[in-house]
Order: sequence, then C-alpha cells, then structure tokens
Amino acid sequence: MEGFEAVAALDDIGPEGLRVIVDGEEVLLVRRGEEVFALGYLCSHQDMELEGGHLEGDAWVCPHHGARFHVATGEAISMPAIEAIATREVRIVEGKVFLKESQP
Ligand code: FES
Repeated sequence: MEGFEAVAALDDIGPEGLRVIVDGEEVLLVRRGEEVFALGYLCSHQDMELEGGHLEGDAWVCPHHGARFHVATGEAISMPAIEAIATREVRIVEGKVFLKESQP
C-alpha cells in the first residue's frame, strides 16, 4: 500500500490509546471497536501527552484537564483546549494498522 506505513496491530491498541512513531512524529492511535483514529500525540492545551485519556463517543478526552477532541477531525470540542490537533489517515488491513506518510 503505497504511501502508508504499518505501525501496529489492531489488538495492540488499548483503551488508553497507543503511541506510535511515523515520519519521526509521535502519533496516538485510538480504537473504537474495529475503527482506528490517529491523532497528534500532544494536547493543544499545554502540550501534554494525550495517551492515557479515554474515548467518549466521538471524543478523545485529555487525561490532564479534560479537553475533548473529535477523533475524526481533531477539532477541539471542549475547553480548556481551543486549537485542533492533527489527524492522519488510517487504513486497517488484516488486523494491521497503517498510517499515511506525509511524504510517500
Ligand atoms: S493538557 Fe490537555 S487539557 Fe490540559
């Protein structure tokens, strides 16, 4: 799959998310059933890690001060964060998670 890099197995992603590296950049994988979303690893509120948070519907909740980010768009949907975080395109093939590379 050109332009995508295998980063994890689907079953490696626990309820607190999973940190992976792609293109030298930290990314947080978040699982909702058989879906996976890839978010920037750091919260836009105080640059603290989003790993260790939890999923609530469409939102990933930061473990530090409770900001919520839409898992598909990265949009900040509740305070104290106001800026969106990055997202990456995800594909899942035979239980493996692939992330789109910035520069294929
Ligand atoms: S660091 Fe995430 S809400 Fe403050």
